[in-house]
Amino acid sequence: MNPVKIPVAIFISGRGSNMEKLVEASQQPDYPARISGVISDKADALGLQFAADQGIANAAFERKNYTDKTAHEAAIQKQLENWGTEFVVLAGFMRVLSPEFVLLWQGRMINIHPSLLPKYKGLDTHARALAAGDIEHGCSVHWVTPELDGGAIIAEARVPVLADDTEATLAARVLKEEHQLYAKALATVLRYILPIT
Ligand code: GRF
Repeated sequence: MNPVKIPVAIFISGRGSNMEKLVEASQQPDYPARISGVISDKADALGLQFAADQGIANAAFERKNYTDKTAHEAAIQKQLENWGTEFVVLAGFMRVLSPEFVLLWQGRMINIHPSLLPKYKGLDTHARALAAGDIEHGCSVHWVTPELDGGAIIAEARVPVLADDTEATLAARVLKEEHQLYAKALATVLRYILPIT
């Protein structure tokens, strides 16, 4: 069992179900992360309540409270530093980070995207997979780079698309996979960067 736990911050914008699964995983003694804090760009994000209930540090940074994107991201960066954060996990964070911010965390920031990248970067992935008549869909965990949803893929999970699928049924099937995949992928990545003892 490796007792080293890397302080990881999770960024959310809403429900935070992936964040919940990461928090649960981090509570396992041999999981290589502890959650240093949860950041949201929405003060009313449901996930913030879960974090608070778990006794996890959390903070909302709404873009409208800052003069520009640079000031917004600087405030987030300061919070991350105050928490001693060493790794960032984007989990349903619906804001595009600037190239400058991404470069500060490049190699230390990952995202989960609800498609089999490089297919369907951006929004409405489930609707686009249905419209294209795909027979397979899924989710990808990838490194965050300045290109939106364009960083190298770390792990992916596949689901079938069924004949009677709606956007909602397909999204639910993919989300179930996301909940398994993200904690596993984060652990794999962190175990590579753990100090060798
Ligand atoms: C997930 O489908 C994630 O892949 C996408 O946004 C959704 C967030 O869901 N980026 P949740 O907030 O983790 O429940």
